[in-house]
Amino acid sequence: MSHAGLELADVHKRYHAVQAVRGVSLTVGQGEFFSLLGPSGCGKTTTLRMIAGFAQPSSGRIVLDGQDITALPPEKRNLGMVFQNYAIFPHMRVFDNIAFGLQVRKGESASTAQKVKASLEQVGLAGYEDRYPRQLSGGEQQRVALARALVVEPKLLLLDEPLSALDKRLREEMKYWIKDLQSRLGITTVYVTHDQSEAMTLSDRIAVMNKGRVEQLGPPREIYEQPATRFVSGFIGESNMLEGRVTALEGQQAVVALGDTQVRARVLRPVQVGQSVTVMVRPENVVLGAAAGTLAWPAPIGQIIGEIYQGAIIRYEIQLPGNVKLIAESHNTSEREVFPVRANVPAGWSADSGVVLIE
Ligand SMILES: Nc1ncnc2c1ncn2[C@@H]1O[C@H](COP(=O)(O)OP(=O)(O)OP(=O)(O)O)[C@@H](O)[C@H]1O
Ligand SMILES: [Mg+2]
Repeated sequence: MSHAGLELADVHKRYHAVQAVRGVSLTVGQGEFFSLLGPSGCGKTTTLRMIAGFAQPSSGRIVLDGQDITALPPEKRNLGMVFQNYAIFPHMRVFDNIAFGLQVRKGESASTAQKVKASLEQVGLAGYEDRYPRQLSGGEQQRVALARALVVEPKLLLLDEPLSALDKRLREEMKYWIKDLQSRLGITTVYVTHDQSEAMTLSDRIAVMNKGRVEQLGPPREIYEQPATRFVSGFIGESNMLEGRVTALEGQQAVVALGDTQVRARVLRPVQVGQSVTVMVRPENVVLGAAAGTLAWPAPIGQIIGEIYQGAIIRYEIQLPGNVKLIAESHNTSEREVFPVRANVPAGWSADSGVVLIE
């Protein structure tokens, strides 16, 4: 199997009045697991369909393995796709479902039966040829859909929300299984999902999409820890978003006034004193009590106004001066400091774990 690199250059797609994709540019490296992540309607499926050749870009170019494939029909692109909300044909045996993928192309060296057998082995379903979909579990049906995509020995694997029809537990299980399969095969993969935890677990890199555009592109850690926009930090994980005004800049840090409260956060993009900004802090980075006393800047004193017990995690709601609400999460370990509701405690974060957002 040869593995391709993929490039999208300023790809647009308009459906009459709807601008579904607005200038997407990205490259996917050979063997990379790349995800398109975003809310419903942001253009993920449209982007994937243009890569597959089922939709034609209004403008822009798509290059696979150095070859411009923008105008190439789907069957000449040599890629495997698992479609959203559409697993396998219910009236066909597993064998015919998988062989279906081969019949629209010309069989080459190995026989159809051998290829079907090999692809079933790849997905851990050896010997399932004669079963009907109704005789398979939901997870097994998804694996057959994957076998059908793989049987053509694609250069590129395109998966559109392949786990969305499964229940939560099976989704968790299949997620690790897909990751393992992809790394074993080393096949370049573009994965579409609106589930941020799926994208984080599976991907080498993620493109976060919003309204037809890519708002941020990077590895999961970068997207989570250094979100580029309010949209990205709100979409990926939970975050405190504190509105304020920059009062001073010190190297890579900004001092931001949230009403009467001064806090610190790191600056990733140029900002000016006086500018209105949002400080983003993840709840797990908010430290309370003695731990907040050891920060390099004076943490404001807040009042604990709520506590929620979640087993492994304790979640606190804190009110800072000036009616600023803050959520903190701490691990429920035996050494943890206990904070009664209504207590007044220092509440802060290391300046590096807060991020100044300007758009
Ligand atoms: N064939 C079409 N004709 C007209 N509009 C379309 C067509 N396909 C998609 N759209 C519109 O383009 C936009 C993007 O749709 P798309 O299917 O790419 O979203 P998505 O990100 O895959 O969403 P979801 O998570 O719900 O699957 C939507 O506003 C949708 O209504
Ligand atoms: Mg979709």
